[in-house]
Amino acid sequence: MERIKLAIKKAKDGEADSKKSDSRLLRGGRAPDPSTAGRKAESGDLGSLQYVQTAVVSLEPEHLDRHRIIAHQKAHPSSWAFDVLRTQVLQKMDENGWRTLAITSPSVESGKTVVAINLAMSIAQQTNRTALLVDFDLRRPSVARYLGLKRPLSLNDYLDGQVGIAEAMVNPGVERLVVLPTNSPVFGASEVLSSDKVGNLISELRERYSDRIVIFDLPPVLAADDVMTVLPRIDCVLMVVASGVSTQNEVEEAMNRLSKADLLGVVLNKDEAPTQNAYY
Ligand SMILES: Nc1ncnc2c1ncn2[C@@H]1O[C@H](COP(=O)(O)OP(=O)(O)O)[C@@H](O)[C@H]1O
Ligand SMILES: [Mg+2]
Repeated sequence: MERIKLAIKKAKDGEADSKKSDSRLLRGGRAPDPSTAGRKAESGDLGSLQYVQTAVVSLEPEHLDRHRIIAHQKAHPSSWAFDVLRTQVLQKMDENGWRTLAITSPSVESGKTVVAINLAMSIAQQTNRTALLVDFDLRRPSVARYLGLKRPLSLNDYLDGQVGIAEAMVNPGVERLVVLPTNSPVFGASEVLSSDKVGNLISELRERYSDRIVIFDLPPVLAADDVMTVLPRIDCVLMVVASGVSTQNEVEEAMNRLSKADLLGVVLNKDEAPTQNAYY
C-alpha cells in the first residue's frame, strides 16, 4: 500500500500544476515493421463455429508518435518505462494465475489509453506471450483513433450481433498483438458491460489461449458505474493516476470503489521528472 499512498500524495502535489508532462513521451522514433506482423489466426465467435484469419494492417509511425504510442520502438527513450511496468505486471499476474487486466483511472485524461496500448505492445514483445487489447471504454472509445485504425468492423458490430468476434479483431502490424477496437460510443454502456454477452466474451477471450494477456481499456472509475460493473469479471486492475489531473479526494474515492478488486498497482503518469518508481 506504500506505493498507493505515494501516488496519492503525488497526485495531490500535482494539483498545482495541471500542465506537467513527460517530455520523453513526445519524442519521435522508428516505425513498426509491418513485415514482421503476426499472422496468428484469431478464431471463434462464441455461438457459431467460424474461423477467420485476423486482419493485419500497418500503422503510420508519425501518427503513433503524435499519440505517444512508442513501446514498439526499442530505441525510444521512454520505452524502458513500459518494459519495467510490463515485467512487474506479468510477474504479479503469473504469481496469481491472472490473465485479464483492467486499466482504469479516477478521472478522464489520465493516460489510461496511452498506457494500455503501450503496455500491450511491450507485453507482445515477449516471444512467449501474446497480448489482446480490448477497448471497453464504451462511452469514449479511443484505441482505434490513437492507433490510426480505420477498420469498418469493430466491437460495435459484434455487440449488435452483426459479426463474430474474430471479424472485429485486427493485428496492428505488431507481432503477437491483436486489438479489439470500438469504433463509436455504445448506448447504455453500463448495461452492455453487465450483459451475459459481454460476460461470455470476457471468459472466451481469457480462456482461448493460455499464453495470452488480455488488457481492457476501461472508462474512469468515477465517471459512471461501468468499471464497478465489469471489474468482477476481470482478474486484476491497474490504476493510472496522472499528476495534476486527479485531486487527492478523487484518487481516494476511486481507491475506495476498487476495494473489492485485485489492485496490481498504481501507474503515476504525466510526472514532471519520472523515475522507475514513479511509473509504478
Ligand atoms: N505521460 C504523458 N505525458 C504527456 N501527455 C500524456 C501522457 N500520457 C498521456 N498523455 C496525453 O494525455 C491525453 C489523455 O490521454 P488518454 O490516454 O487518452 O487518457 P484517458 O484514456 O485516461 O482519458 C492525451 O492527449 C495523451 O496523449
Ligand atoms: Mg481513454
